[in-house]
Amino acid sequence: MLNAAAAERNKEPILAVLRDHVNTDRPLLALEVSSGTGQHVVHFAQALRNITWQPSEYDRHSLASIEAYRAHHKLNNVKPAIHLDASQPHQYWGGTQPESLDLVLNINMIHISPMACTEGLFKGAAVLLKPQGLLVTYGPYAVNGHITPQSNVDFDFSLRQRNPEWGLKDISFLSSLAQKNGLFMEKIVDMPANNKCILFRKESLV
Ligand SMILES: C[S@@+](CC[C@H](N)C(=O)[O-])C[C@H]1O[C@@H](n2cnc3c(N)ncnc32)[C@H](O)[C@@H]1O
Repeated sequence: MLNAAAAERNKEPILAVLRDHVNTDRPLLALEVSSGTGQHVVHFAQALRNITWQPSEYDRHSLASIEAYRAHHKLNNVKPAIHLDASQPHQYWGGTQPESLDLVLNINMIHISPMACTEGLFKGAAVLLKPQGLLVTYGPYAVNGHITPQSNVDFDFSLRQRNPEWGLKDISFLSSLAQKNGLFMEKIVDMPANNKCILFRKESLV
């Protein structure tokens, strides 16, 4: 089982946001895009038993790690992890049906993957969420063209050095991307270590 120190630190604060914004008294279906090691999905699944979790990953080693966490915790509300490339259309997202999900969760992927992954995430989530469903993203972001504090400026610089397509995305860009796809930015929650959770709600059909 892989272990990411950041996931260990942020899993509880992210869970607190989920508890505040996700219904806990009826069965729900959630897809996590880029589940990483699997630490998050088992933590959330233990705490939020009414949610059936579908973990997913692009990286094959991480897929094996998610499976190891799943086997270790024996949770009946976590499905086997699927291979999912967020840059691909939703038809390739493991057979998840349109308008079947209550929640799509994406932690720390947007700044460290090509733009096609961010675009694919919003496009796919918009199709697969039920009306009024939630897309929750977590990570560091730029706000109106500004990155703060200096540690995030340095982080952004180092990401862009590694790959020019990586780097902190601006919240206003994400908001317009959401809108283009029929989602609207409902709330921004400040999180520890200069990160944020952003909640995007799928518009109801009129
Ligand atoms: C910094 S890690 C975050 C992992 C996990 N969510 C966490 O917070 O511990 C970035 C993740 O983005 C994933 N990723 C990279 N390219 C991707 C793609 N095309 N589609 C989906 N996930 C991708 C990587 O495999 C990796 O797990």
